Formats: sequence, C-alpha cells, structure tokens
Amino acid sequence: MAEITSTITQSHSSQPKLNTSSQVTMVSHHNADPFSASDDDIPTVDYSLLFSDNPVQRFLALENLRQACQEYGFFYLVNHTIPDEVLDSILKGFSDFFDPKTIDERKVFRKSGPSDKIRWDLNSSAGENREYLKVIAHPQFHAPSKPSGIRKILEEYHKAMRNIVAGLAGAVSTTLGFEEKYIEKELNLKSGFDVMAMNLYPPNSRSKGVIGIPEHTDPGFVVTLVQDVDGGLQILSHQGNWINVYIPHHAILIQLGDHLEVLTNGKYKSHIHRVIVNKNKVPRISVVTLHGPELDKFISPAVEFVDEEHPQKYHGMTYKESLEANGGDDIDVQSSLEKLK
Ligand code: SIN
Ligand code: FE2
Repeated sequence: MAEITSTITQSHSSQPKLNTSSQVTMVSHHNADPFSASDDDIPTVDYSLLFSDNPVQRFLALENLRQACQEYGFFYLVNHTIPDEVLDSILKGFSDFFDPKTIDERKVFRKSGPSDKIRWDLNSSAGENREYLKVIAHPQFHAPSKPSGIRKILEEYHKAMRNIVAGLAGAVSTTLGFEEKYIEKELNLKSGFDVMAMNLYPPNSRSKGVIGIPEHTDPGFVVTLVQDVDGGLQILSHQGNWINVYIPHHAILIQLGDHLEVLTNGKYKSHIHRVIVNKNKVPRISVVTLHGPELDKFISPAVEFVDEEHPQKYHGMTYKESLEANGGDDIDVQSSLEKLK
C-alpha cells in the first residue's frame, strides 16, 4: 500500500496530525518537479445509465459507479442532465464577476465574521494563489447581486446540481447494497449544508508561487466541480500518485467527500487534491460545490460497515462540529480528514 493510504486508515485522533506535505515529498522524490503529475485515466460514469429502464444497462452502470467510488473516489460524470448553457453561463458569469476593473466592488464581501453567508478574498491563506467568492447555497441560498443576472445564474446552476447529487446519493446507496434513500436519510441531505466556491486562478505569469490551493480533502457527501479550462487540479490517487485532472467538455468532476468516508467507515474514501497554478498562461475558473449533510446531523460510521475485520475508524461528530474542528467557520469548509479520526 502507498504511504497515503496507510496513513488514512489509521484511526485515532491521538495520532499525530496528517502531514501531507512530507508524504507528497515522499511520493514525488523521483521527480525533478515536485508538482508533476501523471495523465492517468480517471473513470467516467454515465449518469443517465444509472437510471436506465434496461436492467442490464443499469446493473453495469451501477457496477461502474461502485468501482469508481471504491477504487478511485473521483470520476467524471457525463450525460448528467444539466444543460450545456447552464454550465457555460455560470463560467461566463464568473469570468465577468472577476473582472479586475470591479475588484473594489467585491471587497464588500471580505471576511467579517465566522458566519458570513457570502465571502470574497484574494490570496487569503499562506501559499494560496486564487481569488474566490464563496456562498452558502443551502438550506438558504445566498448570492451577490452584481453583475446583473449573477444571482439567477448561480441559483439555477445550484438547483440543477442538487438534483444530480440527489440522484447520485440514490445510486451510491444502491452500490453499497442499501435502498435508494439510505444516504439521503443518513446525512439528511434534504436539509444539507451546501457551500459553493467560485475560484479564479491567475495565469502562471501573475502568480506568486506554484500553488493555487494547497492539498486538502473536502468534507461532505460529494463535491461537484466544473471549470472553464483544463490544467491545474491534481488528485492524489489511493495508490499515492498525483494525477492531472482533464475534465471532458461539459462533464462534471465528482469527488467523494470526507463524510461519505466516515459513514462507510472508509469503504468509499475521499482523497487529497491540490491546485497548481496554471501552466497554460491563461487564468482558470472553477465552480466547486460542497454538498454536505445537515449541519446538526451526527455522522459516524454506520453499524453495517463496522465488524471485527473492519473496526470503527472515525469518531462521531455533528457536521458542524467537524467543520469547526477543521479550523474553518461556516463558509471556509476546505478541510482535512484527520480531525474526524
Ligand atoms: C478545491 O479543491 O476546492 C478547488 C479545486 C479547483 O479549483 O480545481
Ligand atoms: Fe477541494
């Protein structure tokens, strides 16, 4: 087993904090460039086939989803029902939103407190090279009102994405051997806490370093991601090698979140990822939605995943407590799985 996998499967909070940087160095020793990554294949899941009337097609699609969840923890979702125009308009909308000429208008959303509903910042954490806008999108939807139309675009996109995530929750439940509503109920997804982050990464020529976002895992059930140009996002596979993400046009990248890992006691794992500032010489925009459980929902490994061979690996905590334990507040929900152990 690669270093990262064996560390993730350790199970106690008394373990020293996961030092992912040193693991990355270990993984990357053979490379001259410590941020290089391979172009290995990432699985593709056809959303429409998960609901096919043809039982054989549906069975095969679900088996493909099961493998993608268990062996990778991330996959491209195609034939997913979100119209191309909705994807194009959110990416274009945020390209307008991040117009350098209107940066002063965005500063009103700079951090004011732990329960901001909308937050903007530029290179806010050490080692980051990105401008972002984050909004809490569920259970209440929040959005800026400028530029004109942005609120509508964001809301339409989020609504469509929530539908897909609800469908995925059903399909993932099936792959785990449960009835379709299993994950929805276990995580109270209907009242789930969703945060959207719209990121602008500068071109290589304008960045102050190599890193867009340092490595981390994401909390929640799943994270959905769309982007305007390829290049920059890298995922650490369960085997311990970094993989470049090249999302097919109009597809969605799905990444499993920490709380699916906790619920399944590590059967379906989240994974470390990072953003390297684009080498393409152009800025890159990503729209990332963290689809979380209800804030007050206590999440712990379900009894069905714990037995003598698979002892409990994670503490139980409410979703809110786990976000706070990760040093974040309501809106800064990027995290690392370590604190859940
Ligand atoms: C993230 O992991 O939160 C952002 C990933 C990206 O912008 O590609
Ligand atoms: Fe992330």
